[in-house]
Amino acid sequence: MLPYRMIAAGLLLLAMPGLQAEGRDAALLAASCAACHGTQGHSVGGTPSLAGLDQLYFIEQMQQFKSGERPSSVMMKYARGYTEAEIRLLAKYFAAQK
Ligand code: HEC
Repeated sequence: MLPYRMIAAGLLLLAMPGLQAEGRDAALLAASCAACHGTQGHSVGGTPSLAGLDQLYFIEQMQQFKSGERPSSVMMKYARGYTEAEIRLLAKYFAAQK
């Protein structure tokens, strides 16, 4: 039988790469938005900035682009390329950008 503490430490180690992977995946996903929405969502052109957007608002907009409820020639195509889980990752990522 392994002592409790060793099991706890093992679980912690197992969980950590998962957290790091999430941050890396989000940054990778977000990189494809940078062409229009700027680096880390800081837009310099006419495209709306994504940095600091409320997560719920972000998710709603993406869902509305997907369904066509919010029409956009560009974003309707983009939003359809992402799963719900990816959209949640992106929402968290952009909300955290200051
Ligand atoms: C080819 C340019 C382009 C790319 C790439 C692009 N967007 Fe957009 N996005 C736009 C434009 C333009 C708008 C403004 C809505 C409109 O009128 O079409 C917009 C609007 C949005 C909005 C709504 C913002 C608001 O304030 O209401 C969100 C959210 C969004 N984009 C997310 C993303 C995400 C996430 C990605 C990457 C996965 C992405 N966009 C990639 C052009 C782009």
